[in-house]
Amino acid sequence: MKSIASAPAKIILFGEHFVVHGTKAILAAIDKRVTVTTTFTENKTIKVNSELGTIEVPISSSHEEVESEFRPFIFLANKMISQHPNVSGLEITIDSDIPIGVGLGSSSACCVAAAASIFGLFKEWLSEEILMVSIEAEKTIFPDTSGADCTVCTYGGMIEYPSIKKIDNTFDLNLLIANSMIPHSTKNSVEKVNKFKKNDEERFSQLCDLESRLIDEVIVDMKNNDVTTLGLKMSENQKYLEEIQVSNDTLRNMINSLNEISLGSKITGAGDGGCIIALVNDDNMDKVPALLGKDKKCFSAKIDTKGVV
Ligand code: PMV
Repeated sequence: MKSIASAPAKIILFGEHFVVHGTKAILAAIDKRVTVTTTFTENKTIKVNSELGTIEVPISSSHEEVESEFRPFIFLANKMISQHPNVSGLEITIDSDIPIGVGLGSSSACCVAAAASIFGLFKEWLSEEILMVSIEAEKTIFPDTSGADCTVCTYGGMIEYPSIKKIDNTFDLNLLIANSMIPHSTKNSVEKVNKFKKNDEERFSQLCDLESRLIDEVIVDMKNNDVTTLGLKMSENQKYLEEIQVSNDTLRNMINSLNEISLGSKITGAGDGGCIIALVNDDNMDKVPALLGKDKKCFSAKIDTKGVV
């Protein structure tokens, strides 16, 4: 028997980092997905195959005994195996078209799809359950996660977090995603922001208030299909991200290079590398590669209304 599940990548349109400190955020699932296939085996092991490599550990192993990138899968497998002592082995295979470590939620999408695939071998699951368990799984690598990424990967579409209210985007956002090709560590960037907060609690709290206000306004702009104002607010959000020091010269140069053709642009995800997003008119899309240079990868993304399936 085989259980197959898939989950989408994500972008954060507004509110990364501040969301870890309790502020709202707006996220969207995009049309790149990870697929996880789980099968029973007779090998008395849990085997995980991914583009990062393969591991096979005895069925009794704890997730803490394996390298961090494999921990969520062992954690999720153990959760089910502990309730079904007759299981003699599981093989989990991950196929992904989401670039790793660049702020597109690869790790969260893997946790969500793996939870659904592994649980699906044993029972029918509900999205709420998959969300809860996938956040637990992600915490085995990144204990400070806000949970926002797993939430949008589970439900799909565009959402406000933490309320999980769906935002209907009646207009077609032309979202350009450009990868700086600098891998980042979400954990390190979040720690850096924690230090910023510790050094200047007052300014950090003002920035959280500014971010909250910006997001409230953005929700109205979206309802009014006001793409121009939305773009300006993305650039405003970028100023806050600059101030908390998760930007760098490469990301700034990318954003500046797109200025003449974009309505607005910003980092998406933890920053310090990874990706930027920009609102670009369709007519200008073909100008992007020349403006960014050959060493950056870019693609246009559509919002994926489908969450975990
Ligand atoms: O770069 P990513 O995809 O790991 O996104 C991180 C988003 C943060 O707000 C920085 C952390 C979080 O848990 O929300």
